[in-house]
Amino acid sequence: MAGPLAEKHVVLGVTGSIACYKALDLASKLVQAGALVDIIMSYGATQFVTPLAFRSITHRAVVTDQFNPDSEYSVEHVALAQQADVVVVAPATVHCIAKLALGLADDPLTTTIVAAKCPLVVAPAMDGNMYDHPATQANLATLKERGVVIAGPGTGRLASGLSGIGRLLETPELLGHISYAMGKDGDLAGRTVVISAGGTMEPLDPVRVITNHSSGKMGYAVAEAARDRGADVVLVTAPTSLADPALVKMVQVRTAEQMGEAIQEHVKNADALVMAAAVADYKPATSADQKIKKSEDDLNISLAKTEDILKSAKGNFVRVGFAAESENLVENAKAKVGSKKLDLIAANDITADGSGFGSNTNQVTLIDRDLTVEELPLLTKYDVGNRILDRVKELFRD
Ligand code: CTP
Repeated sequence: MAGPLAEKHVVLGVTGSIACYKALDLASKLVQAGALVDIIMSYGATQFVTPLAFRSITHRAVVTDQFNPDSEYSVEHVALAQQADVVVVAPATVHCIAKLALGLADDPLTTTIVAAKCPLVVAPAMDGNMYDHPATQANLATLKERGVVIAGPGTGRLASGLSGIGRLLETPELLGHISYAMGKDGDLAGRTVVISAGGTMEPLDPVRVITNHSSGKMGYAVAEAARDRGADVVLVTAPTSLADPALVKMVQVRTAEQMGEAIQEHVKNADALVMAAAVADYKPATSADQKIKKSEDDLNISLAKTEDILKSAKGNFVRVGFAAESENLVENAKAKVGSKKLDLIAANDITADGSGFGSNTNQVTLIDRDLTVEELPLLTKYDVGNRILDRVKELFRD
């Protein structure tokens, strides 16, 4: 199994909040992502959900008692701390956050955290007033200063019935924070990567657009892969049905023109541009102010060429393009390397099985500026992203 969590040791600390039920889902998704998940529950957490519920998901012992003579771990807190690639506290209560800020170690979770050297993610969940309390804010600031990744909290409906800040983040966002925490000092730390995604939408009138089948998955996967290696990521995206990746700067656009402007603005300070978007080559020459009414049997639409964003982006950065081809893959892609002055192009045959629009996998051929060809196997889009970023990293060295 591929992905940032595959075969990683995750210690998931669960403390006493009604949001504990969401930690079951998080544990399940971590296991599905290939992680080895050890759960440590506070006494409070065991009052909301049972250790058995977690054990049924992780198939591993759940730690609730620091002094359990039957434990499989020799000295539990040290054993778990040494194995861990990341420790996550979700949900983290006000009380737990206060203990962590002070460095207290009076239960299995806090003792493990003090003994661990790996990244720590803390996901607060609490009532809005408790979150706003100066002590909580000061404690979170202390943790942040120490390099702890604070995930959330989110805003919305709280268990009290009130609405406000204090919700535990949803599982996909938590997973994003966990991957980020593990990779934040990775090989792209300090680099800024601008990535484009999705299919642009060119308006014909207030209700109709010309667009394409791009799902945005490839660009989003490159963005997540770059984030998980420590890069600062700007994702300039046309509308998609995908959730925003956590800890990625999102720039929402619709048309090719808007995408071009956004990219030019953000690429000024970037180290690389990866254009995964399917940009319209033509747009309606005019966009009607009012809905076009049905009248004649034929309707002719005049189209005007859009600007080639990749070709015209100005600045000193590594340029990576994609080539979506339905025939003569390598030949067409090589021509684009030259005409767009690219450092690298990822060419994919959109008609191949397991590749192309909407799929979670892709089979691409990488062609660099020397026209050297590397055919990659069928991979997840996340792994394709990583292979592209491996090459981008080499290009930074040049
Ligand atoms: N691209 C761009 N601006 C455009 C059109 C394309 O920046 N107006 C970028 C795409 O994001 C991609 C690369 O150029 O990274 C190649 O896009 P592709 O659609 O494969 O090729 P085109 O240049 O549009 O040529 P053609 O449609 O004739 O194959």
